[in-house]
Amino acid sequence: MALQTIEHVAAWRQTLDARRAAGQRVGLVPTMGALHAGHMSLIRRAAGDCDVVAVTDYVNPLQFGPTEDLASYPRDIERDGRIAAEAGAELLFAPPPGEMWPKPPMTSVQVSGLSEPMEGASRPGHFDGVATIVAKLLALSGPCWAYFGEKDFQQLAVIRQMVSDLSLPVAVMGCPVVRDADGLALSSRNAYLNQTERALAPNLYYALLAGKRAVEDDGETDPGAVTDAMAVSLEKHPEFGLDYAAVVDPLDLTRPVRIHGEVRLCIAARLGRARLIDNVPATPPDN
Ligand code: PAF
Repeated sequence: MALQTIEHVAAWRQTLDARRAAGQRVGLVPTMGALHAGHMSLIRRAAGDCDVVAVTDYVNPLQFGPTEDLASYPRDIERDGRIAAEAGAELLFAPPPGEMWPKPPMTSVQVSGLSEPMEGASRPGHFDGVATIVAKLLALSGPCWAYFGEKDFQQLAVIRQMVSDLSLPVAVMGCPVVRDADGLALSSRNAYLNQTERALAPNLYYALLAGKRAVEDDGETDPGAVTDAMAVSLEKHPEFGLDYAAVVDPLDLTRPVRIHGEVRLCIAARLGRARLIDNVPATPPDN
């Protein structure tokens, strides 16, 4: 399918309004580009559900901390366009620098509580930047079904809460993590890994699986013992710098005192230049 690339905010809004006026359901896939098979799975899912798939491709400066990788974040709009079209997208929004925020915004969207633990503690202000850009992209794109990956599990929770709190006319669709054959969750930041680091990287997933086995096979109900199992597994590979290992409630991301129902196991660690995050669900045997 031929892809139409749109750079300007007004043209994007008009194009999507026209599609809705023609009776089409819009599927929106917000991205920061550097598209990979994980993004393709979101686009394919949206193409299955909707009449037109619209991908946004914008590296949002608001969600990067001062010492983070904004300058080096991979950017290649032409390559992204080819990948988006192959997966079934018809429209690509690729605003040039200055189009989204001609002047620094004075408004910030903050989803308190959910934004504070895990990624929020390690990356202060990150989720304010995410919520602000996603609110803006949703406002520009209008009523739609919007697709986000569960790899960024906390981001998905923050966006769901924002959409609910602000009654935005959007159905938020969470989509499963896509992994390479060795288990590594796909991420644009995997491009920072050298060959040795890439070979080690799936150990982050294996640490999650160690936690999952503790819950599901051993019936462990103490969250501290489960995070220890994850940390001990990762410590076998000193190349990693563990940031956090956490057991959280999948809906509100609070830390349970005891594990009774389904929980999410979340982990973040540095490996070389990359900071990797991942998560899996875990359900105790009696559930
Ligand atoms: O997940 C991402 O790629 C980004 O955080 C998002 C949702 C596109 C906002 O910039």
